[in-house]
Amino acid sequence: MNAPSTPSSAHIIDGKAFALKLRENIAAKVPEFITASGRKPGLAVILVGDDPASKVYVGSKGKATIAAGMNSFEYLLPADVPQEDLIALVKTLNDDDAVDGILVQLPLPDGLNEQEVIAALDPDKDVDGLHVMNAGRLVSGQKAMVPCTPLGCQILLKDYLGDLSGLNAVVLGRSILVGKPMAQLLLNENCTVTMAHSRTKDLPDVVRAADIVVAAVGRPEMVKADWLKPGAIVIDVGINRLAPVGDAKGRLVGDVDTHNAMAHVKAITPVPGGVGPMTIACLLRNTLLAAHRRNSMDDPEI
Ligand code: GUN
Repeated sequence: MNAPSTPSSAHIIDGKAFALKLRENIAAKVPEFITASGRKPGLAVILVGDDPASKVYVGSKGKATIAAGMNSFEYLLPADVPQEDLIALVKTLNDDDAVDGILVQLPLPDGLNEQEVIAALDPDKDVDGLHVMNAGRLVSGQKAMVPCTPLGCQILLKDYLGDLSGLNAVVLGRSILVGKPMAQLLLNENCTVTMAHSRTKDLPDVVRAADIVVAAVGRPEMVKADWLKPGAIVIDVGINRLAPVGDAKGRLVGDVDTHNAMAHVKAITPVPGGVGPMTIACLLRNTLLAAHRRNSMDDPEI
């Protein structure tokens, strides 16, 4: 019997391949920084608790940092670390000249105050772009550290579309890590931006008006094919693991029903292999940028 046919016509935006190229470009710029400054750029990552998915992400970030020729400093703290100790570590890293970027893996375990931890970061080392200074700089059009995932989405969109001016963009989700900075980046690209969320009325109709859809809600395959305008460009930020079937591990799916959407959208990012690899590449980019800015050097062209 034939395998079920895949209704295929959409272009698959290959974030994995793009991220590899970006990482090569970043790695190629590192020696220039070392020659000028006499040291490697350094990224410190703090993981609190032992969430298995976060451990995998942090491991990948560390490997990618070293592969790019940078120093990676990992801090693994127990889930019951006192808030003051976590903040004291952030402050020590703020004062450490070998550290250009600091990332505190989120979410933090219950009982820890994320906002207080983010506020303790030196904004110039905040490679996640979460500090209010960076959020404010982004909104005000100043040089900011931009959160890695939305930055990766913006880079993929510009690579595929070129000019985004005048396009209708709908961002699903309003987190400080993805939805809010994504909307701002699209606005900076002259899109007409709608932010949709769990209380949005007539969500399918709102999404149907979009030339660009960025889905970042963390709900498996929530966005259905008939919500999407024919010819839309879809960026799927979701990474959701479905329940296991028998002995097999559950499949990874995004926030979009990609299989059915393929028939009538123009382009779509796959899950996995779309936005995820771009997040790590952009983290390396932000670390190299932070290193240059802290040394009063011009931003490298990446
Ligand atoms: N958890 C999931 N994605 C991210 C990210 O980009 N940065 C941080 N700090 N935590 C995350």
